[in-house]
This record gives sequence, C-alpha cells and structure tokens, in this order.
Amino acid sequence: MDILRRQFFAHVGQTSPSPLAIEVARAEGSFFYTPEGRRYYDLVAGVSVSNVGHNNPKVVKAIQEQAANYLHIMVYGEMIEKPQVRYAEKICSLLPPKLQSVYFLNSGSEAVEGALKLARRFTGRHKMVSMRKAYHGSTIGPLSMMGSPEADEWKRPFMPLVPGVTSIPFNDFGALNAITERTAGVLVEPVQGEAGVRPPAEGYLQALRRRCDETGALLIFDEIQTGMGRTGSMFALQKYGVTPDILCLAKAIGGGMPLGAFISSREIMSSLSHDPALGHITTFGGHPVCCAAGLAALDYLMENNIVEQVESKGALYEELLMNNPQVREIRRSGLLLAVELGNSAKLYRIMGLFKEAGIMSDWFLFCDTAFRISPPLTISEEEIRDSSRIILSCLDRL
Ligand SMILES: Cc1ncc(COP(=O)(O)O)c(C=O)c1O
Repeated sequence: MDILRRQFFAHVGQTSPSPLAIEVARAEGSFFYTPEGRRYYDLVAGVSVSNVGHNNPKVVKAIQEQAANYLHIMVYGEMIEKPQVRYAEKICSLLPPKLQSVYFLNSGSEAVEGALKLARRFTGRHKMVSMRKAYHGSTIGPLSMMGSPEADEWKRPFMPLVPGVTSIPFNDFGALNAITERTAGVLVEPVQGEAGVRPPAEGYLQALRRRCDETGALLIFDEIQTGMGRTGSMFALQKYGVTPDILCLAKAIGGGMPLGAFISSREIMSSLSHDPALGHITTFGGHPVCCAAGLAALDYLMENNIVEQVESKGALYEELLMNNPQVREIRRSGLLLAVELGNSAKLYRIMGLFKEAGIMSDWFLFCDTAFRISPPLTISEEEIRDSSRIILSCLDRL
C-alpha cells in the first residue's frame, strides 16, 4: 500500500467500512484522473455539485481573483462584500418576488438548519412535517427531519433527536392532513434525490402549497440537489410552478466551493434579526471566495445556455440505456437519473464493474437497487454516448 493510501486510512475520518479510495490527481470537465493517468467519467459530480464541470476556467479565475483581493474579514452579515451582495442579487433576480432575501451559509445541512429555525421563529410553532425517504443532511436538525421509518437506521444511534417531527409519504395526497395549525414548517425536496429520484406526482406540490396556506405552515423546499439547473430549470420550483416560503440551496451554488443558503421573503427573513438580535450567526457563511466562485458558475450556466440543454441530455441517456434487459426502469428529472436494476446484488456487482471500466457512479441512500447518473451539466452529447457505451458493456457483463 502506498504512503498516501496508508495515511488516508490511518488519519482521515472514515464514513464507511469500504471507501472507494481512488486517488485523484486532477479533474477537468466531465472527468477526473488518478496519478497514474486513469480517467473516470464523473457521473456523480460530487453529488450534483460540479454542474459547470470540473475546473471550469471561469470559476477558477474568479476564485484566484477574489483570493488575491481578500479572504475572510468579519463574521457574516456585518460587512458589505461585493461577491456576496452581487451573488445574492443575481440569485434573487432568477427567483419569484416572494424569495428576495438570501442568508448564506457553508453547507446544505446548515441551510436546512437555518430554514428550520426561521420557520419556528416566524410562526411561533415548533412542529415539523417531512417526507419519508428524505435526506436533508447529517447534523442533528436535518437528521431529525430524515423520513421515518426508512431513516431509523441512521437516526436511532443518535437519539434523542429534535422532537415534534412527523414523516408522511411523498406524493400521498391523503397524508396532507398531518399538516395542521400547529405545524411550523413542511420540508420537501421537489424531486426526492436519495429516495432514488422520485419526481412529484401531478399536482402534489400544488396540494402541499394549498395545505400550507390553509394552516399557516411554511413550505420549505430543499433544492440542495435539484437547484442550479439539475432538473432542466434553474430551480425545480420553476419546473413545477410552486413557490415555497423558504428555499434551501447548497451543493452547486458554490461552483465547487462550499456554500449553502436559505432564501425567503424580506418579511420572513427579518424575524431572525431581532428578538434576539444575532439569533442566527455564522463565521464563514457566504465566504467571499465561495460567492465569487458561485457567481461565476451561475454566469457560466446562463451565458452558455447550459440549463436549456439539460432535458435533452437527460433524455439521451434514458434513450440509450432503457432497452438493456438489465434495466427495469429509469426515473429521471433533467440530468438526475436513477437506473433501476431491481436487485441490490446486481447493483453492488455493477459498482465494481464501473470502477474497473472508469465510470464513477453511486447508489442512493434509500435505494440500493438503482445507480445514479448526475454528471456535470456541461457533459457533451459525445461524452453521453461514450459513457453510455461503457455502462451498457458493464450491464451486459452482469
Ligand atoms: C437533498 C439534500 N439536502 C441536504 C443535503 C445535505 O447537504 P450537505 O452535505 O452539504 O450538508 C444533501 C446532501 O446530499 C441533499 O442531497
């Protein structure tokens, strides 16, 4: 075992007994490379992070320029920092008029934590509703919102968690009565990611919106995985035509740098700035280098009409893979695909074949029978065809 590998296992905190442990030397576009020059198609994109492709030159330049100007100055919200202000303004210009105030943080979990606090503070209630098979992050607040009973395996060892959370099945119209006048917030991914890509049923998000309006509960969208073009709209809320009261973003909004945000109306957001003042604070949230990177990534998406191409790219993957006899079903929203094999033993086998063949894929937290395809949105048609050829040859070897 080489030294770096030994040190990785000795000194880097492990998240599973069997990490992939592929050493990365560099990355570009849809690929990353090992020190020996082995090339991998990155069909995970850091779990929907690298939407503009690895080492996008525009993003790298923005990072270098901002790093040369200033890094961290003062805790969030005190100073006027150009990258932060310009990025907040740009994001708001793309969102409905209700969502005009951005609170930047460092990660998705923090964005969800902030949204939960905001919903409690604004409504004066504490009960929450979330969806079964939902993943919202690993800190105690989001962990408490992970949908039971499927998530109990991840929740049980860390009990007691935040009380007052009810899980309802996603897409079940009959379960909406669990949202009542005592509910502070309803947290939902408009397209469930870790459930194995489950788009909303026709009219479901509208029905959720109506029920929240009837009861005064705040509707919170977790677009941490679906935001920044992944589903073929800049935000899934536009694709499905429903505006939440709070929107959580992370992953791709940093253009590859750590950044998260929750976004709401000025009225709702202002409830965090008094009684108590400093009721929600962060040292590094909205770091200027991360905001400069995120803004450059968003500009890149827009200047190159990348989001407009997402639907046809996703459809091409679907068309190329759907007729293989091993494929039971493909669930998809834009360039977020779950290729269902219907069997976890096959899934584990194909992961090994992918690793040998230079394909980086993954399964889902709540679905170990399907593999993920969520490449950089910049992937070319030729790369889609080539990576599909490799995937099909692995499927044929199952
Ligand atoms: C839908 C969703 N919400 C929240 C998170 C948590 O984000 P983070 O890992 O940045 O804390 C994730 C991460 O996978 C996610 O997919």
